[in-house]
Amino acid sequence: MKKIASWLVTSTILVAAAAPAAADPLKAEVMHWWTSGGESAAVKVFADSFDKAGGQWIDSAVAGGEAARAAEMSRVVGGNPPAAMQFNYGKQFAELVNNGYLRDLTAIAKEENWAKIMPPAVIKAITFDGKVYAVPVNVHANNWAWISTDAFKKAGTEWPKSWDDFFPTLDKLKAAGVTPLALGAQAWQERILFEFILNSEGGADTYRKVFVDHDVDTIKGPKFKAAVATMGKLRAYVDDGSAGRNWNDTTALVISGKAGFQVMGDWSKGEFRAAGKKHGTDYTCQTGVGDAGGYIYAGDVFVLPKNDGAEVAKAQDLLVKTMLSPDVQVAFNAIKGSIPVRNDVDTSKVDPCGQIGLALLKQPEKQLPAPTFTITPDTDGVLNDALAAFWADKNADEGAFIQQFADAIAADGQ
Ligand code: GAL
Repeated sequence: MKKIASWLVTSTILVAAAAPAAADPLKAEVMHWWTSGGESAAVKVFADSFDKAGGQWIDSAVAGGEAARAAEMSRVVGGNPPAAMQFNYGKQFAELVNNGYLRDLTAIAKEENWAKIMPPAVIKAITFDGKVYAVPVNVHANNWAWISTDAFKKAGTEWPKSWDDFFPTLDKLKAAGVTPLALGAQAWQERILFEFILNSEGGADTYRKVFVDHDVDTIKGPKFKAAVATMGKLRAYVDDGSAGRNWNDTTALVISGKAGFQVMGDWSKGEFRAAGKKHGTDYTCQTGVGDAGGYIYAGDVFVLPKNDGAEVAKAQDLLVKTMLSPDVQVAFNAIKGSIPVRNDVDTSKVDPCGQIGLALLKQPEKQLPAPTFTITPDTDGVLNDALAAFWADKNADEGAFIQQFADAIAADGQ
């Protein structure tokens, strides 16, 4: 064995004796589906802050929400849970709660005053039988249109002020050689588009009656029927590359001015930012056509599976503290395109679209929960399949689709 220089042995021992051994970082493997340019930049804020606070973030990203949630479920059920897993607000993780896989965070929530510093709808969506089971990290909204300034200028038109002007505006974009609507034809993206139409053309009450009250008569009523007709008509306004395209690749069409607008949650805003695009000059944003609609709030939480050993629990506690610290909340959400979940942080620097969201969130009659809050993942799946089949078939029977939708909502949770 090579002889180690005596001075090295001595000095090492001295240093060790002098400086206490740096504690091993608290390792936390975090599963999530934030893989786009804007999303990766945002999650890096969490990772860097956690590492700086004495943790070690082990990133386990899985592209696509559905794939990530399936992977997360099988890790937990398979007995090899990570330290933290991303979900959306609401019922997506209810099964994990009901089967006792998740840490009860009620004590942390009390200690950190979550009920005082977070919106009541958020507290309700993370509480099961009076106990808290998830860490909220942001407030997103699903009903946004991201509008290319160049594309609309090229067509000599502007965002329509009423639904009567909607298709004439899209025809002008088409005539100018621009793809009017940038859509990634995946079921969840088509749902976001359909709910944007239902909310804006049908009005906030129509949306609420369908997704909150599960009112079948409204689904069979004239406003829902009109929204289905509008959705069907839009098939003629997307490009040939639409089928199966990811949401962020679709946002890129608007960023480049090849397409007029995309309807997508405000995580799209993170892509404009990552591309160095400026609100007001390169793009604008609208929550609907006209102002009959509400604000379909959504967003992300992290659940903390029960793990063996105290080390992971310590790492989980440090994660919670890091993700919810005021500075991290402001920095993360600015890059992510969402709004901080804490209402006690400085929102003066939130961008103009975010300011519209903040204002709408102050109007109770405008607050609409995303379907993840109000229907089960099973019902969500049935609606996705029905809408995807409807969208894919230009001869689809609108009445049959409406009946499928009504049956699924009526059967929700049974
Ligand atoms: C949503 C999530 C957002 C966003 C989006 C696209 O479910 O809440 O944070 O990332 O998926 O991946």
